[in-house]
Amino acid sequence: MKINRKFLLIIALAAPAGIVAATAFKPPDEQYVNLKVLPKNISSRDLQKIMVDDFEDGLGVACNFCHSADKNTGQLDFAADGKPEKEIAREMMRTTIGINKKFFKIKHPMIGQALTVTCNTCHNGVAFPDKANE
Ligand code: HEC
Ligand code: HEC
Repeated sequence: MKINRKFLLIIALAAPAGIVAATAFKPPDEQYVNLKVLPKNISSRDLQKIMVDDFEDGLGVACNFCHSADKNTGQLDFAADGKPEKEIAREMMRTTIGINKKFFKIKHPMIGQALTVTCNTCHNGVAFPDKANE
């Protein structure tokens, strides 16, 4: 049946993301350990929204574009700073915050809040927007 196959495909595509989200984002009573730009007491719900909507979708990449795997387990270690892309992303976060503050007069801009300029404003779903039109 047509509908069933479509439904199965949706489940198959959604499952890996669901597993990643379930293991990566901490329960409400635990804190993240290596946040340098985002507030240290951010909720798992808010962090998940940023990682998935702003970063993954905004740049058209997966978690492992910025996050490195643990050598022993092979699992992504989200707190580790093993890839340069993560630090570049932090710089981009600071830049994005700065643009909103300086040019759009938002008093206390933070990634994940309603901002005038977001990752997606420049990236629009691609990792290297400077190469997007080449
Ligand atoms: C574009 C780069 C990028 C992508 C893609 C990305 N992240 Fe992140 N992630 C970061 C950065 C940068 C930080 C640290 C933010 C800070 O220092 O405030 C971070 C922090 C985290 C943390 C907090 C770890 C800790 O304890 O400090 C978790 C959990 C996390 N990311 C999960 C994910 C998941 C799951 C995905 C995929 C759905 C993902 N990230 C995709 C850049 C990225
Ligand atoms: C003002 C425009 C602009 C905004 C806003 C912006 N970026 Fe970028 N970003 C770029 C351009 C242009 C490039 C490609 C050139 C480069 O790598 O520096 C890029 C490249 C990147 C790369 C790849 C770097 C590399 O060399 O591997 C990452 C990761 C990234 N951006 C993350 C982010 C994140 C996360 C946000 C939102 C917090 C963001 N960017 C917001 C313009 C922007």
